[in-house]
Amino acid sequence: MKYVFAAGLLALGVGTTALADPVEDRRGAMDQVRKGAATLVPMLKGEVAFDPVIAELALRMTYAGSIAFHGGLFPDGSRSKGANPAIWENKSDFDAKRADFKVTAAAAVKSLPTDLDGLAAVYQPLLEDCAACHKLYRIKDK
Ligand code: HEC
Repeated sequence: MKYVFAAGLLALGVGTTALADPVEDRRGAMDQVRKGAATLVPMLKGEVAFDPVIAELALRMTYAGSIAFHGGLFPDGSRSKGANPAIWENKSDFDAKRADFKVTAAAAVKSLPTDLDGLAAVYQPLLEDCAACHKLYRIKDK
């Protein structure tokens, strides 16, 4: 049974991390984070009604993305159009910003919002983390 399960995971591409493309993986992680924002920002703006269950899912997806965006995805030489070369020049600052993002996201899922004010309280700091990191380390017009 155990082996069948492992084979299934391999078929799904799980467990092949060593062969994966770090650029594709970090974009995939950011895409999870982007989907969180695409759900939560319209709620914060009042364009979409606050829904605690959907907000929870989006916050958890953001947290999962922050974990998936790990340091192993930035090996030397893994440049990409979207990644600013400053990442490799200031690796410890970049890593600190990644760590901050994960801490902020963990805090958000520990105090899940029950109303719009609660959502603003936990998600605003996450948006500040995006901006702080992107300003220095992401090239947007690629
Ligand atoms: C610690 C740094 C950091 C934080 C925090 C961060 N990002 Fe990013 N983000 C990056 C980097 C670096 C890239 C470029 C990756 C690449 O192209 O190799 C990126 C790329 C992206 C992309 C483009 C992905 C693609 O397919 O090319 C989106 C969308 C994005 N980030 C959204 C967000 C949002 C929304 C947040 C906050 C909720 C956020 N990011 C927080 C560093 C960060």
